[in-house]
Amino acid sequence: MTLDVDALRRDTPAAADRIHLNHAGASPSPRPVLERVVRHLELEAEIGGYEAAARCAEEFDAVHDTVARLLGCGQDEVALCDSASSAWHRAFWAFPLEPGDTVVTCRSEYMTNALALIRARRTLGIRVEVIDDDVHGQIDVEALADRLDRGDVALVSLVHVPTQGGLINPAAAVGAACRAAGVPLLLDACQSVGQLPTLVDELGCDILTATGRKYLRGPRGTGFLYVRRDLQERMDPLLLDGQSATWTGDDTYRLADGAQRFESFERNWAGLLGLGTAVAYALDLGVDRIAERVVALGARLRESLAALDGVEVHDRGVDRCGIVTFTVRGRAPAEVADELGSHGVQVLISDVVHARLDLSARGLQSLVRASVHVTTTEDELDRAVDLVERISRGSA
Ligand SMILES: Cc1ncc(COP(=O)(O)O)c(C=O)c1O
Repeated sequence: MTLDVDALRRDTPAAADRIHLNHAGASPSPRPVLERVVRHLELEAEIGGYEAAARCAEEFDAVHDTVARLLGCGQDEVALCDSASSAWHRAFWAFPLEPGDTVVTCRSEYMTNALALIRARRTLGIRVEVIDDDVHGQIDVEALADRLDRGDVALVSLVHVPTQGGLINPAAAVGAACRAAGVPLLLDACQSVGQLPTLVDELGCDILTATGRKYLRGPRGTGFLYVRRDLQERMDPLLLDGQSATWTGDDTYRLADGAQRFESFERNWAGLLGLGTAVAYALDLGVDRIAERVVALGARLRESLAALDGVEVHDRGVDRCGIVTFTVRGRAPAEVADELGSHGVQVLISDVVHARLDLSARGLQSLVRASVHVTTTEDELDRAVDLVERISRGSA
């Protein structure tokens, strides 16, 4: 059964009057998500925040189960967070790293994670090594496996789908190499959850981080963290409060059970209830069906843009997703994005500061990033491509 795109668009207020090609930035929520968030905010206003939380406690707990279904893991392996960055920090700074340990990362490493690695080099005395890409522009899995064979790597950090292009890194192959070497894999799935299958056992990751507002179409200010059960005991959470730990004596505390030890007490209940609705919505559509449509639309947009004179598409990798990056000869990417925006086509810029290890190695300062989702239509893509053509000819 294929997706009913008309029904999906009717369910999406933002689809009515704009061409939103910024799903990799934040994808407008479908109505059930919006309604769930608003309903909880109203309840909080009517009876009080703690009282509203008590009324929804069971549903809130069940958000863990829903996310666990998306990832194919246990609900005790899921921590609800407020962003992918916060999920990544909560995992990374809890990971047992000693001075001299090596953390291996990839060219497509995301800004937040790279900043943390720079800081950890200074404060923890770790070493950080970047594995180069292969000829296709994805992480070189053979080079990684060779590096892991040397036996001194403590952790591998991989970005599944980078912010700055259509690349899908071969996460499952990386996961297999990590498993073979006995090295945990920390996978940044911020851009892949909701767009592609992200079953943790298939990917072979031990930690996974994600956000709610992108391909899952959840509310802003939501995210989650997966930590494999047997790794949790080896980790030492940094950010402690009454949710993650119990103060048991003047000098002692006991960590909460399971991944709850990575959560915080204060959080956006409305947003996280909305996240649960968004994940359930994606599961109902079927992640495989979502992936099929998004990948096909991405390929169509890429092909149409590449056929234009003066337009260069920059996506790399063997497998590609719904993110498409390009430049227009003689025009700054920010100018192109602004011009598209003034005609109702919403895109974003990927800048070197978001992905320096990759973009600076390719000699790129910034790119226009257009990202599609299941609600995108072929007609919208044709209109966007027409507009890019007119911009490239200076006649938009
Ligand atoms: C690959 C990747 N990782 C992490 C993040 C950070 O996500 P958040 O803004 O939810 O912290 C982003 C955001 O764009 C991203 O693209």
